[in-house]
Amino acid sequence: MLTHTDLRDLQAKSLKMQSWIRQQTFSPESEKTLRRFSSWEVAELILGINQSTFRGKMAADPTLPAGKVEPDGRQRWFTLEEVNILRRKLRPRGKTLLPSRPAGRAFRTAIANFKGGAGKSTVALHLAHAAALDGYRVLCVDFDPQATLSHSMGLTDVSEEHTVWGIMARDLIRETEAQNSAPAGAASGTALPQRSIPSSITDLGLQDLRIGDFIQPTNWPTIDLIPSCANAAFVEFASAQYRHLNPEWSFFAAVNRFLDQLPDDQWDLIFFDCPPAIGYQSMNAVFAADMLYIPSGPGYWEYDSTTSFIGQLSEALEDLAYGFEGALSADKVPLPKAFCDVRFLLTRYEPGNELHRAMFEAFGKVFGDKLARHPIEMTRAVEQSGRFLNSIYEMDYRDMTRETWRRARRSFDGAYDEFKEILLPHWEGLSAPVSHKEQIELEGEDA
Ligand SMILES: Nc1ncnc2c1ncn2[C@@H]1O[C@H](COP(=O)(O)OP(=O)(O)O)[C@@H](O)[C@H]1O
Ligand SMILES: [Mg+2]
Repeated sequence: MLTHTDLRDLQAKSLKMQSWIRQQTFSPESEKTLRRFSSWEVAELILGINQSTFRGKMAADPTLPAGKVEPDGRQRWFTLEEVNILRRKLRPRGKTLLPSRPAGRAFRTAIANFKGGAGKSTVALHLAHAAALDGYRVLCVDFDPQATLSHSMGLTDVSEEHTVWGIMARDLIRETEAQNSAPAGAASGTALPQRSIPSSITDLGLQDLRIGDFIQPTNWPTIDLIPSCANAAFVEFASAQYRHLNPEWSFFAAVNRFLDQLPDDQWDLIFFDCPPAIGYQSMNAVFAADMLYIPSGPGYWEYDSTTSFIGQLSEALEDLAYGFEGALSADKVPLPKAFCDVRFLLTRYEPGNELHRAMFEAFGKVFGDKLARHPIEMTRAVEQSGRFLNSIYEMDYRDMTRETWRRARRSFDGAYDEFKEILLPHWEGLSAPVSHKEQIELEGEDA
């Protein structure tokens, strides 16, 4: 017979091995750094101007960053910081190279599905990198204690207070204080009961952490991250206890409230990498998101599991919509939760595989224009990049055949371009003033 103590012993053994494995695959000295980009990449793939125009501009203006010549050839290689300076300074035919940026806050996309291995972290990483190369300032939030995204972005030494768990516990304390001191009648006409949070939680001091304490730089200069770590896995368990301590706490809106406090102009795009489960963390991700991106492999099982994912998500969102009308914080977050858009995205797609093509067609029949037109192709280089995902953008094309790299990059670029095309009108809508017609509808609802 085996009990929890046996499991603990096994875990203790495994933990010892874990640190050894970690050292083998990712020693702290070999920090993950970002490579330079060649003038070919910078001109044609990043800035979208032809190489001779680029060379001409460079020759004409000695104040532009010149990059570095590497021993193997005539190409110049630029850091991302240099690329961003070029992006600001160059104006081919008088046109700006800066990406469009509607006024207002950053646009938030959750990459969610509850199947592990669906490609969530890979999609999150590639969209983040593609967006950064496109000139956007990116913030990622890793909601998954498996921390694939955090590790892949070079963050391996993370303490759990600085994860989504910390944000949730901090929110519990603050929301409870706000409810306790709210005048009677503020929310639903009656005063909420006084709640107290035990010192075991308040003593952690999370309520004193500032917004910026949760946000860390990554190996990309224009990407920041709210990381996760294995220890944050207990947030699911802890959150159940927190809800018990304060049933009026709108637990699902904690991260949304946190993000609402960020300055509008510090980031452009925010990506959430979700855990493979519907739980407290993924509900926070979904609730804070403007748009849902649902990656799925191109097989029957993946189709089944994606189908049940949207079913369960729908039920969970319906439960939230009708349970929190009276809560103080719910007044600030409109219920039921509405998304600007939802998209399904096939990943690990092989165009030569008949089953994959049939599944693409089936997904298309069912989801119509909610299926992204550009599936992400299966890429050996990405598959074999190891425990810490390396995006195709991080990989140096000199390490493989140029055509292999080009093909993979084209696939991820296609998915990113489509993503951007979808989000831009919604992003503009976020900050657009409420139209006259909508205003009348709103007033109509009140009456
Ligand atoms: N387009 C792709 N081509 C090749 N391998 C992929 C691709 N997308 C994902 N993978 C691989 O599949 C595995 C699971 O992907 P991951 O993004 O971690 O899934 P999830 O986050 O949904 O659990 C990883 O080992 C990853 O390298
Ligand atoms: Mg993942």
